[in-house]
Amino acid sequence: ATTRTFSIIKPDATRRNLTGAVTAMLEEAGLRVVASKRIRMTREQAEGFYAVHKERPFFNDLVAFMTSGPVVVQVLEGENAVARNREVMGATNPDAADEGTIRKTYAESIEANSVHGSDSDENAKIEIDFFFKPEEIVG
Ligand code: CMP
Repeated sequence: ATTRTFSIIKPDATRRNLTGAVTAMLEEAGLRVVASKRIRMTREQAEGFYAVHKERPFFNDLVAFMTSGPVVVQVLEGENAVARNREVMGATNPDAADEGTIRKTYAESIEANSVHGSDSDENAKIEIDFFFKPEEIVG
């Protein structure tokens, strides 16, 4: 089925001017960008978005990193979008990511790993609603 997922191009990637290169890999994987905006996340947004990780030892560093520069938040549409996006992103840790994936190609570290993608259809809806109004998504 055609579904949607939520993606973030993270500060390590925007800093290196990789917004287009990362987006091209998403598009080549069969995903369509149906919403996109470049924002500077506030501390409140980053803490809210990653609330599920708030007890993890990396939480404070993660919030600092995600607010350290611009990000590009996107809604992606395609056949089984969540799984397709996770395939093209590769493993969270770039050392474990397959060749040809975004993280293997571009990530700097497990934290500065260039992209975020939703891990389920349920979380995709929650994450899309966190950053986008319905009228900002044009399918
Ligand atoms: P993301 O898919 O956005 O979800 C949580 C983020 O926390 C992850 O990508 C990384 O950017 C960051 N992170 C930092 N350290 C770790 C870790 N040890 N395990 C998982 N995620 C980590």
